[in-house]
Amino acid sequence: MLKSWRCCLSLFLLGVLGPGVVSAGHSFENTAIVRTVELGGSLVHVTTTYAVKALEDGSRLYTLALADSEHEKTSWLEAKIKGEAAVLSLEEFGYSPDGGAYLYTVELPNALKANGTANLVVETVQTHVTYPWPDQAAQSDGQSLKYETDLLVLSPYHTAVQRTKIRSPLPQIHSYTTLDDFDDFTTESPVTKSGATITYGPYYNIPPSSNKDFIAEKQKHVIVHYAYDNPMLEVLSLKRTAEISHWGANLNIEDKVHLQNSGAKLKGHFSRLEHQSSQYYGRPSPQMLPALTLHLPAGIHSAYFYDLVGNVSTSHLRVAPSVPKGVQSNLNSVMELRPRYPLMGGWNYSFTLGWDSPLRDYAGWDKQTGKYIVGVPLMTIINGAVVNDAEIKIILPEGATDIDYSPPFPSLHSNLSTHVTYLDTIGRPAITLHYKDLTYNHAGTIYVTYKAPFSTLLRKPMAVAAAFISLFLVGFAAKRVDIRIK
Ligand SMILES: *[C@@H]1O[C@H](CO)[C@@H](O)[C@H](O)[C@H]1NC(C)=O
Ligand SMILES: *[C@@H]1O[C@H](CO)[C@@H](O)[C@H](O)[C@H]1NC(C)=O
Ligand SMILES: *[C@@H]1O[C@H](CO)[C@@H](O)[C@H](O)[C@H]1NC(C)=O
Ligand SMILES: *[C@@H]1O[C@H](CO)[C@@H](O)[C@H](O)[C@H]1NC(C)=O
Repeated sequence: MLKSWRCCLSLFLLGVLGPGVVSAGHSFENTAIVRTVELGGSLVHVTTTYAVKALEDGSRLYTLALADSEHEKTSWLEAKIKGEAAVLSLEEFGYSPDGGAYLYTVELPNALKANGTANLVVETVQTHVTYPWPDQAAQSDGQSLKYETDLLVLSPYHTAVQRTKIRSPLPQIHSYTTLDDFDDFTTESPVTKSGATITYGPYYNIPPSSNKDFIAEKQKHVIVHYAYDNPMLEVLSLKRTAEISHWGANLNIEDKVHLQNSGAKLKGHFSRLEHQSSQYYGRPSPQMLPALTLHLPAGIHSAYFYDLVGNVSTSHLRVAPSVPKGVQSNLNSVMELRPRYPLMGGWNYSFTLGWDSPLRDYAGWDKQTGKYIVGVPLMTIINGAVVNDAEIKIILPEGATDIDYSPPFPSLHSNLSTHVTYLDTIGRPAITLHYKDLTYNHAGTIYVTYKAPFSTLLRKPMAVAAAFISLFLVGFAAKRVDIRIK
């Protein structure tokens, strides 16, 4: 699921120019490609810099290639010109069977003249690319992971020189593929390790590589085995429900999180004594997760945190004051969640976390269209975790019409349904979005617009009426409970 919605132009191009554009690799040359892989736990950050030279006047659309396996594990991709903040438009062309790779077109900010150059920086985040090795560890053992990747960066263009650097978070690298018998594109054996970094290359004079023959004959596979002393977190599933209430002037957000420590599985039984003594000596087992620190929005109230057993009281919340809408601010409320038990490798923890916010911090009203606009945060980042599967449901006020929504990046699928609770007469419209493999780069805002003329006009009188109605409802609810008990 890639960030490729800046598409209007490229859709047009695809229609007019056809896929020929994509496979025609004559308009550029790579004077250098440098790839840097920052190894992590569940997430691996890859930065690839392409120094490109145009071979014809008017070259503007540069084609990127991702190998099939790389594409499958890339959950986020963004291209920029080196040193600039603007994100370049990117269009996904899908899998090219002749190329044996997935192709993307990046639109450079200016067309290049022949011999004109640009430095393109492509950042990706890979998920599900590392695995614990050995896959079991005793409570006091360390943890190590393996990362596997293809060595050469594919490109439809000729490449003068290429390097790949793989950087581990710690200098303890147990092993790495040395490629002793690989002498294409190089005269020496250019694999070096320095501290926590392994450098492959330079490799010179690589022909266009995004084609099946090259991949079959020349591509190399490398494996790095490195120490990793943090838990490896996966959110197996996240269900966020955001409920907009004009009545209460409230935005309620509730997350149901199914968290897993997918690091090395705990060998044998968990010993609380060993755990406590290792805490005491300041050497907690590296793959264990004792607590989570989450950054929640400013201005929240009535936060709650419970798991299958009940309320969890061992959590702390420090609330930052509300930030007026539209003001850039880094203020966050900080919540420290301490699960009931330390999360060892292979263990799961399911919990529910929710809070209320003043609706005015998120909502506005557009005079011109007569529509409300509400910005709903897509998710709360859990540091270092990949969210395998996310469902985000936004429940609008009853009677909302003319509903429109724009997520920060396309969802796998989305749908508009009706959410009925027993106090509703006609049910509330609800928007549901599905995502896969979300990372720290995916914490955007979903903008929802809708008309709710009834509540706008009658909000004041209704607020007065509400007091009476709620008295009535309390009675009503009590009655229902009574009936059930009998
Ligand atoms: C581009 O560079 C090459 C080699 O330096 C040179 O032969 C060629 O004339 C240049 N083309 C243009 C249009 O400047
Ligand atoms: C959990 O905590 C909330 C708020 O503190 C309280 O209203 C609720 O009754 C508690 N539930 C249980 C089962 O203790
Ligand atoms: C963790 O949850 C997953 C998915 O629900 C399940 O398949 C797995 O067996 C659970 N692991 C443990 C140790 O309970
Ligand atoms: C929309 O979502 C609801 C709830 O998740 C589901 O029951 C329904 O089948 C979905 N509709 C479509 C068309 O996907």
